[in-house]
Amino acid sequence: MSTQAWFPTLIYKAPLQTSGAARFNAELVEECHQLRDFDEAGRKWSVKNYPGGYTSYASMNELHRFSSTFEALRRRIDKHVKAYAKDLAMDLRGREWGMSDCWVNIMPPTSSHAMHIHPNSFISGTYYVQTPKGCPGIKFEDPRHVHFMASPPRLPNAGEKFQQQIVYPAEAGNVILFESWLRHEVATNRCDEERISISFNYHWS
Ligand code: NI
Repeated sequence: MSTQAWFPTLIYKAPLQTSGAARFNAELVEECHQLRDFDEAGRKWSVKNYPGGYTSYASMNELHRFSSTFEALRRRIDKHVKAYAKDLAMDLRGREWGMSDCWVNIMPPTSSHAMHIHPNSFISGTYYVQTPKGCPGIKFEDPRHVHFMASPPRLPNAGEKFQQQIVYPAEAGNVILFESWLRHEVATNRCDEERISISFNYHWS
């Protein structure tokens, strides 16, 4: 082969656990709703910054330190992060690493979440708690986007790898991991029910 691929962008997707997801998610749904009821500052912040929805991103963003349910989630996600970091060939030998932030996102019908990155962390991700049929997935953008300049469009029949965006469907019970610099968004929720997810960041030192 004359041409080889370099600088891969890796996205990880797996079921959080092999069994018991439905029961665990039912517990999480209840806690997410309790949190929204309780978190006045978060509701206020969301009105401006998360239109139509609720996120505890700016108010209660260390949920794994305050709730045993979220702590259980953290322990399970750690295993996936470990596997993903290995796939990325990251050298964390002798390093401290772990979940630094963990917050809830509730997206009722018509809410959306614009393109963003997760600054100051190395691995980020989302765990899907409630994903009604037809709810939006998570869309990732080619990280080289800004450098494309005079690049022509890709052929319609080019492989998925060559497209400039990829959408991973939101599926309750699945965890998705990506490197924190990778831009992503969630399109408008056009189904009749709430889409609920829990997002998180990981740090190392
Ligand atoms: Ni995000």
